[in-house]
Amino acid sequence: MPRIPEDILQRIRDATDIVDLISEHVQLVKKGRNYSGLCPFHDEKTPSFSVDPDRQFYHCFGCGAGGNVFKFIQEIDRVTFVEAVKFLAERTGIMLPQNAGPSREEDAAADELYRANDLAQKYFHHLLLNDDAGATARTYLQTRGLTGETIARFGLGYAPPQWDALIKVAGRRGLSPQILERAGLALPRSTGSGHYDRFRDRVAFPIANLSDRTIAFGARALQPDQEPKYLNSPETPIYHKGRVLYGLSDTRDAIRRQDAALVVEGYMDLISLAQAGIQHVVATSGTALTEDHCRLLARYARQVVLLFDGDAAGSTAAMRACEAFLGTGLDTRVVSLPSEHDPDTFVQAHGSDALLKRAENAQSVLDFYLKQLAQQHDLSNVEGKARAVERLKPLLAKPRDAVRRDLLLREVAERLSVDEQSLRHDLQASLRRPQRPRMESAEPSPTATPDPPRHELEFVGLLLNFSQFIPQTVRQLAPDSLSDARTQTLCRTIFDRHAHSKAIDLGMIISELEDDALARLAAQCAAQDFDEEQVERQWRDYLLYFQKNALQKRIANARQALATASDDGEIVRISAELVALNQERQAVAAQQSS
Ligand code: GTP
Ligand code: MN
Repeated sequence: MPRIPEDILQRIRDATDIVDLISEHVQLVKKGRNYSGLCPFHDEKTPSFSVDPDRQFYHCFGCGAGGNVFKFIQEIDRVTFVEAVKFLAERTGIMLPQNAGPSREEDAAADELYRANDLAQKYFHHLLLNDDAGATARTYLQTRGLTGETIARFGLGYAPPQWDALIKVAGRRGLSPQILERAGLALPRSTGSGHYDRFRDRVAFPIANLSDRTIAFGARALQPDQEPKYLNSPETPIYHKGRVLYGLSDTRDAIRRQDAALVVEGYMDLISLAQAGIQHVVATSGTALTEDHCRLLARYARQVVLLFDGDAAGSTAAMRACEAFLGTGLDTRVVSLPSEHDPDTFVQAHGSDALLKRAENAQSVLDFYLKQLAQQHDLSNVEGKARAVERLKPLLAKPRDAVRRDLLLREVAERLSVDEQSLRHDLQASLRRPQRPRMESAEPSPTATPDPPRHELEFVGLLLNFSQFIPQTVRQLAPDSLSDARTQTLCRTIFDRHAHSKAIDLGMIISELEDDALARLAAQCAAQDFDEEQVERQWRDYLLYFQKNALQKRIANARQALATASDDGEIVRISAELVALNQERQAVAAQQSS
C-alpha cells in the first residue's frame, strides 16, 4: 500500500490536540506543563501516565507505553497505523489521498454492500412497524415483552415470506441481485438462474459496525417448528463474525462508563437486558467468542462478566469464552444462571437488580472453569486429576505476560493440589514440543534482557528532543559506537528519519518502529527532562564518551590481531593502525577534559 504523504500526516497531527484526544479515554489533570492520569494501558491506582501537550506525546512511567496521537489510537483501539491515520483524518476533516488505504474499487464495492444492508434494514423495519405483513411479527415481539421504543432503538424488522420481496425493492434502487448476494442477503437459485431472498418470514435483528452502519442480520423464526431458529448473514467483505459484537455500537458508551461489560449469547438476551435498564452488554450472536472479540472489548472496559445460559450448552460456551479471555489480561468473571434460564428470561422473571447482583458476585474464570472440570472428571483420584491438568494446559499458556502466567499456574497447582514445580515442568515440556521457535522468539521474557545503559538512553533522548545536534552527530558517530543493540537501532532510525525530513518527530519515529518494545524505549528516552542550558555540553560529553569507547574497542581488536599476526607486512600495518587509533583516542580524551 502506498505511503501516506508526510505533509498530510503532519497536518493531521497539527490539527489533533493530544490532550483532547486522550481525554476521551483518560481523566487528565494538569500537573505543571503536563497532564497526568491513570494509564489506560495497564492497571494502576496512582497516575503514572503523562501527556505532554507541547511535544504532543504521551508516556507512561509505569508500563512504558508512549507515542504520539497516531500511536495512541493504534494502542487504544488496537488498529494499524493506517487505520489510526484514517480515524484521525476523519476526525479532523482532513482528506486523505484516494490511494492511501483500500483502492477506490474496493471502497465502491464495500459501499454497495453497506447500501444493500442499509436498505434491507429500513425495508424490514418499515414492514414490522407499519405493514399488514408485519402483524404476526409485531405480536410475536409483544409476547416477548419488547416495547415499541426498544424495537426502534435496535432497528428490528420483519423479513416477509415472499422469495423475492427484498430483491424487487433493491432492484428499484439500482441494487442488483448479485450485489445482494455479495451482501449475504440473497442466494443464487440451485437451478442456476436467478436469486432468492435469504431471510424470509423472520424477525430481523440488524447487526451494526462501530460506525453504526448495518453490516449483517440475525433473523429469528416466528414458528417453533421453523428451522433453523436463527439464520444469520454469512461472512462478507464488510462482516467478519469473529470481530463484531452485537450491540456494541449502541452500548459502548455505557460499557466505557462502567468499565465493565456483560457478555451474553443471544440477540434477545442483549435487547431484553437493555430494555430492563442494563446497558453495558454485548452479545456474541451465534459464534464462539474469539480473541479478537476480547481485544475489541478490552478497548472499552477492564472487566468482563460472562452471562451464559444455565444449561449444558451455555456452560460449554462459557468455558470456551474463558479460554479466549484469559489471553487478554481482562478481569473476567462468570455468572452461572439457574439451568432453566437464559439472561433474557432471568431478567424478565427476577428483574434487573437480581441480575446485577449475580454479576457482582460472579465467580472468577478459574473457579468456574475448575468447577466445570470437577463435574467432568473425578478430581479425587490421580487419573482424573491428570486429565483435568491436560485440559488446563492450553489455558495456562494463554496469559501473555510471564507474571500472569505464573500466578495462574500457581493457583491451579494449589487448587488441584498438584506439585507446582512438576506442573511447570510438564507445561514447559508440552509447550516446547509443537511450537518451539515461535515461543522463543515471540515471547522473550521482559526481565531477561537488562535495560540499555542509562547514558545511552539519555543520549537518544537528547537527540530526540534537540534535533539541532543530529547533523553533527551523524558526521561524528557511527551508531554501533553505542554498546546496546536497541539504542543502536534507535540511533539509526533517528539518523534515517533526519535524512528524510529535517524536523524530527518522535511520534513518526515511534510509529515507524515495528518492535513494540523499541517503540516504548524511544518514548521512554524522549520523556526525560533536559536542562536546556546544559544540553550542548551534555551532548558533547556523550559524543566524546561514545567515540572514545568505540576507539577503545577498535584498539583492543587491533591488539588482539597483532598478537596473532605472523606475516611481517601485516604486523607493520596493524602497528601503524594502533598508533593512529591511540592518537585519535588521546585527541578525544583531551577534548573530554577541556
Ligand atoms: P430466543 O429463543 O429468541 O430467546 O433466542 P436465544 O437468544 O435465547 O437463543 P439461544 O440461546 O438458543 O441462542 C443464542 C444465540 O445463538 C442466538 O441469538 C443466535 O445468534 C444463535 N443461534 C441460536 N440458534 C441458532 C441456529 O439455529 N442457527 C444459528 N446459526 N445460530 C443460532
Ligand atoms: Mn432466549
